[in-house]
Amino acid sequence: MSEELYVRDLWYMPALSSSLKAGQMRREMLLGEPVLLGRMRDGAAFAMRDICPHRGVPLSAGKILAENTVACPYHGWRFRKDGVCSAIPSLVEGQEMDPEKIRVRSYPVREQDGLIWVYVAARPGTPPRTEPPRVPVEKPRMRWTETQTFPCDIDHAVIGLMDPVHAAYVHDHWWWKRTPRPKQKQYAPLPTGFVMTKHKPTKPAYSLLGDVTTEITFELPSTRFEIVEGQLFGISFKVIGLTVCTPRDADHTDVMGIMYWPGWLNFIYPFFWALGRTFIADDRKIVELQREGLKFSPNLMLIQDSDMPAIWYHRVKKAWAESTENGTDFVNPVQERTLRWRS
Ligand code: FES
Ligand SMILES: [Fe+2]
Repeated sequence: MSEELYVRDLWYMPALSSSLKAGQMRREMLLGEPVLLGRMRDGAAFAMRDICPHRGVPLSAGKILAENTVACPYHGWRFRKDGVCSAIPSLVEGQEMDPEKIRVRSYPVREQDGLIWVYVAARPGTPPRTEPPRVPVEKPRMRWTETQTFPCDIDHAVIGLMDPVHAAYVHDHWWWKRTPRPKQKQYAPLPTGFVMTKHKPTKPAYSLLGDVTTEITFELPSTRFEIVEGQLFGISFKVIGLTVCTPRDADHTDVMGIMYWPGWLNFIYPFFWALGRTFIADDRKIVELQREGLKFSPNLMLIQDSDMPAIWYHRVKKAWAESTENGTDFVNPVQERTLRWRS
């Protein structure tokens, strides 16, 4: 595909809040770039380029100081969380140099719903065009999570995720499988993606929750929410499944599955504990297999209607990239539509 692999001016999710304690930092690859992700001693999460502007040493090998700066391990230059250099220890009196004129690229960070979002601007320093997605429920509590690294670029990870017909083959388990039958689903555009509108799911696993509806959203760069709504014992509930693909580089994409549900629904936890990892591993294994074919750079196909979500993904991505490039408004190319397939 000739389009750019990465879209910018968007929020990416490299880590869970719980993975970063105060005073910790580490290198996180993001869109092929080394990013220093850390948490200052005062609790503030931050992200900056993991390359010291002095002589290129990774700042992640340095220290977080009590004063809430990062000290480079080579000559001790200190950087605040906004990337501004606050001190150059080697300077002596009379050497007039303002360290604050030196800065390392910093990335806007938001922390919400137990997730750390990092904004990757097309032009470093420009303010975010959007805010990161919110988990669509009040006071979301993360109940289950699993991350696996897929050996592929973000496109193949995303397309695998939204593929409506692979389940019978890839997720070939008694607790998930169903004899394929004709389906038809309604889709509508969202601000930067599209939604499979609310419907009654047919997979038997959903019956754990009684009579429910589900709705599946996708928005750039790779946020998929499945919102399951129902009623049990007269109480309404929402179970939210969030899947995010975080592109590390052209050959590695982290697929992160996260579940949110109200505490009284905890009886569904064993289901995720026992099967959630297997489910994501199914998708990872097919990508590992796919890599054996892709290394010969074959031409690929996207056929309608079952590949229409993938076609839309490419169209939305391209339109977003153009709006970013030209500074124009984004116009979503997706139209409301019914898709039909057998699965
Ligand atoms: S390389 Fe970082 S302070 Fe010199
Ligand atoms: Fe899958």
